[in-house]
Amino acid sequence: MRIITIALCLSAMIFAGAGYAKEPLTKERNRSHIELDPENTGTYTGAAGKDNYIGNCSPCHGLTGKADGPLADSLGEGVQPRKLDDAKLLSSRTDEFLFKVIKSGGASVGFSESMPDWKDTFTDKEIGQIVQYLRKNICKCKYSGKK
Ligand code: HEC
Repeated sequence: MRIITIALCLSAMIFAGAGYAKEPLTKERNRSHIELDPENTGTYTGAAGKDNYIGNCSPCHGLTGKADGPLADSLGEGVQPRKLDDAKLLSSRTDEFLFKVIKSGGASVGFSESMPDWKDTFTDKEIGQIVQYLRKNICKCKYSGKK
């Protein structure tokens, strides 16, 4: 009986230890959510990303994200910009994923290279602001937690 108790205690400790070890990773993964809203007020309007979206993204993705910008039909056979107002689609994407597609381009995640990379155009902060603009004003959605 005593042996079983000790074994139970030990496995509980190992289990708890494993959970503890995972904690910093989870925090790391969530970090960019916090950075996008530095004061973490939850009231960030996304306004700062607006001009950059309209100036650089709307030619393909359209002013309201309907993929109807003037360049939308000129990207080549079968290639269309993504409808960024598609809340169902964008709520399946994490903020980090959207950040990566914008920063490093479509090819970096296996999408068409017609989606340019913006790393030489925008700072990380500006890309974060564009992600916020997409969330608040274009798809009006958040990551749902389901991929
Ligand atoms: C030259 C046209 C073009 C421009 C300009 C452009 N995109 Fe794209 N974008 C695309 C295409 C095409 C795709 C879809 C690629 C595919 O279907 O494989 C795409 C995909 C995306 C996706 C992926 C959506 C998903 O499914 O997760 C995001 C996010 C995105 N674009 C954001 C932006 C933002 C923000 C800007 C401006 C900074 C921008 N795009 C500028 C053409 C463009």
